[in-house]
Amino acid sequence: MKIRIDSSTVSLSRSELAVAFAAPRARPDLGPALTEFVERAFATGDVATDARKTSVFHRGVGAKGEPKRLGFVGLGDRKSIDTESIRRAAAVAQSLAESAGVASFDLLVDAADHGAVDAFAAGMAVAEGMILGAYRYEPPRKEKPKARKGQSAAIRYSGKAKAEFERGVKLGVIAAEATVHARDVENMPGNLANPTYLAKQAQRLNGAKVKVKVLEKKDMERLKMGALLGVARGSVEAPKLVLLDYHPAGAKRTVCVVGKGLTFDSGGISIKPSGKMDEMRYDMCGAGAVLGLFQALAKGGMAGAKGKVRIVGLIAAAENMPDAAAQKPGDVVRAMDGTTIEVLNTDAEGRLVLADALAYAVKTYAPDQIVDLATLTGAVIVALGHEAAGIMGNDEGHIRSLIDAGAAADEPLWQLPLWDAHKEQVKSKFADLANINGGHHGNGTIAGAAFLSFFVGDTKWAHIDIAGTAWGGRARDYYKSGAAGTAVRTLLHWCRGLR
Ligand code: BES
Ligand code: MN
Ligand code: ZN
Repeated sequence: MKIRIDSSTVSLSRSELAVAFAAPRARPDLGPALTEFVERAFATGDVATDARKTSVFHRGVGAKGEPKRLGFVGLGDRKSIDTESIRRAAAVAQSLAESAGVASFDLLVDAADHGAVDAFAAGMAVAEGMILGAYRYEPPRKEKPKARKGQSAAIRYSGKAKAEFERGVKLGVIAAEATVHARDVENMPGNLANPTYLAKQAQRLNGAKVKVKVLEKKDMERLKMGALLGVARGSVEAPKLVLLDYHPAGAKRTVCVVGKGLTFDSGGISIKPSGKMDEMRYDMCGAGAVLGLFQALAKGGMAGAKGKVRIVGLIAAAENMPDAAAQKPGDVVRAMDGTTIEVLNTDAEGRLVLADALAYAVKTYAPDQIVDLATLTGAVIVALGHEAAGIMGNDEGHIRSLIDAGAAADEPLWQLPLWDAHKEQVKSKFADLANINGGHHGNGTIAGAAFLSFFVGDTKWAHIDIAGTAWGGRARDYYKSGAAGTAVRTLLHWCRGLR
């Protein structure tokens, strides 16, 4: 999907299709040639104004300065307009153009269309809606896929805050394309998207703004990353610890963003049931979020941001498989910071790879703040379903800033407690820690966070469990099915707010 900003002020041109938004008791201004038509179409009730409802009018051939077809997408009651409804309406506009069979279309946005939402946020939501809505995963097939319609749009804004709106569109394009990239990598099967592939995807981002380095198995051995290496033991795929560094001149603060990158999680010796095991290809969606964020950073996603901050991404990539060489329940491993861990369940592997990644982040970068993202527990789906990701941590201000970023992106985060009592649950008789809390406690998601908390020391840290939001959510126009590319936009909002 390609989006162009049309800054011209002339009235409509003769395009194949122009789409405008429609709200009750409001008439979009489509220029003098169409004023009378618009008035009549609304008055007769032929223009649907309910949210997401579409109407199309054929204007025939001949008339100059008029689109051949005029489409409307309902916005619903003006009071209910928010970034989510704008994003969805824009996605519906793209899909209307695609089903109308036109190659390209005009999208007309009026200042009145975004209600109380500011022009910048509205511009972002419009671009995101169209690009994310147009996204389809192209699976590997024998036949080349057919070229799709409706993949090119020119957005034109009428209103005072035009410059603001257009800046929003530009950032929305960056954010959405980064999310699309994350979705593509996330949707790929585990045999194709292995740890080496994740490292290659990161290396593509190496350039002027982002520097990428990959730690190999031998580096992990030198660093004594026994927890990460223990997980990878059962697989023929070499683990990778990918480091992405966005370091603007004059940055005085550093944050680390750490992603769980299990390119397949069979459970290991504590093997998972076979039903839906294929979904464990998605167990790298934390890594996907980090990759997406850094694509956005590489492509100018920090333009106009508040402060200058060094942002370091870490992707702990491995495959969890059962094998003669695989680690076994009861094995004790040692993380790079010296902490010993009793591996009571080899399926609680995410926290093991993150233990070394977090310890490495703290030691290497001495960050001011860390956030990790992981498809860590099935329990978070029991607690929160697919509507919100769980967030826990050791600093309320840090957690709050992430919740706010999630709200700005319409990717809700919901806080769960993390108390000393929870941390006690993951202590072990056979090592410093056990990697599970024992079923009788419950609180599986919090136990995962409690375990991770031991590897960040005093650093301000938050853990986001995205197992419910990374895939399998309800369809909402700009998301259909499969991987969501979740948290890319949240992380970008958060990074832009750092100072
Ligand atoms: N990747 C899974 C978590 C998961 C499960 C995400 C289902 C999405 C859907 C993780 O590695 C895992 O297996 N966690 C275990 C932890 C348990 C052994 C304490 C789980 O959730 O069952
Ligand atoms: Mn697992
Ligand atoms: Zn896992």
